[in-house]
Amino acid sequence: MHKIVLQKLFVPLTLLVLMVPQSAWTQDRGKMLYQNHCIACHESRVHIRERKKAKDYEDIEKFAARFGTIAGVEWNDADMAAVVEYLNRKYYKFDR
Ligand code: HEC
Repeated sequence: MHKIVLQKLFVPLTLLVLMVPQSAWTQDRGKMLYQNHCIACHESRVHIRERKKAKDYEDIEKFAARFGTIAGVEWNDADMAAVVEYLNRKYYKFDR
């Protein structure tokens, strides 16, 4: 009985996963990475505190690289860029 239910679900579920638009996937990647690896220490509030340390886009990159090392993540450049982009879009809003 269970087996049949699972078989009936398998095809629609697979199709659903394949249909998630690639771009939305990439856009959310920075957010996903940040939430998984970075807010363990500081909640996102650190980026909107009154005297935030990051003064421009390059500063976010520097902080992200520094904490990436501390957090022990092994992100490639694209992942790192996605996180920086996410933080800037959501909190800092610096010009590039
Ligand atoms: C080991 C704990 C820890 C981890 C993990 C960590 N951070 Fe941080 N982060 C801090 C602390 C502490 C500060 C505040 C530093 C200060 O005030 O000088 C901070 C500040 C920052 C800032 C600057 C905030 C501002 O004032 O503008 C950025 C950007 C940042 N972190 C990004 C990241 C990213 C991206 C990651 C994930 C790769 C990450 N952090 C993971 C501890 C951590």
